[in-house]
Amino acid sequence: MLSLKNVFVRKGGKDILKDITWVTCPGEHWFVMGGNGSGKTTLMELLAGYVWPQRGEVAVLGEKFGRVNLLDLRGRVGFVSPWIFRRMAQEVPLEDVVASGFDGSVGHCGRKSAKVSAAVRRQLRFFGCEDLKGREFGTLSSGQQLKAVLARALVHLPRILILDEPFSLLDIGARLDMYSLLLKLAEAKNAPQIIMVTHHREDILPVFTRGLLLKDGRILYKGPREKAFQPGVLAKCFGLSVATLKKVLV
Ligand SMILES: Nc1ncnc2c1ncn2[C@@H]1O[C@H](COP(=O)(O)OP(=O)(O)OP(=O)(O)O)[C@@H](O)[C@H]1O
Ligand SMILES: [Mg+2]
Repeated sequence: MLSLKNVFVRKGGKDILKDITWVTCPGEHWFVMGGNGSGKTTLMELLAGYVWPQRGEVAVLGEKFGRVNLLDLRGRVGFVSPWIFRRMAQEVPLEDVVASGFDGSVGHCGRKSAKVSAAVRRQLRFFGCEDLKGREFGTLSSGQQLKAVLARALVHLPRILILDEPFSLLDIGARLDMYSLLLKLAEAKNAPQIIMVTHHREDILPVFTRGLLLKDGRILYKGPREKAFQPGVLAKCFGLSVATLKKVLV
């Protein structure tokens, strides 16, 4: 699904991602963890086609960067990230937020065809948001805005869904609600591969069988989830001693 080989990304004159080699296979869902500034968001932007690597090879769904049209690629990947919330105009109606996933714009969907309208209705039903039809984005609660942006990311049935700290603003009830939706999504036929960045251990539902840990722009660990949670590995990832980490986790 994803294939990165010796990838380097530079921003502001500095290497942000260094020598990233990572492959994901169909049927896997991955979580990504790492300290603030370790490069998680930059990696997600790279996978979603918004950042270009300086060195190395990137292929998403078998399409190699350099040969593929990035706009086409963005159409096959669903992306939820903090900047989508920041850029969404407050007055855009819910249906237009969702429909804008078809062209990858942030709320500018124009006139909707019957096919697009039907796909929007399907998403609103999936997320239990039918009663919010017509509401402007700025009038929705954080949880409702998240559902709108998730629906936007899924409306065009992407093969890969990238979630960058999706639940950071939610209270515990809204989190639990989102966890069951995420499970329903992951278990559906033709489910997209989910790649989720999080700082919260409880977000990492059992469907996330694989984990990637970043430290200072490099991969510290990639593989089965259980090993990622070993205190020695996590402590190294966050630059803590094992004793301190254990105190925090208790
Ligand atoms: N446009 C830019 N110019 C210069 N430096 C940048 C730019 N964008 C990101 N960086 C730097 O790259 C590093 C990695 O940033 P990134 O946002 O990918 O980290 P992150 O792991 O997502 O952090 P967080 O957990 O805080 O969201 C940081 O040091 C950040 O300041
Ligand atoms: Mg980030």
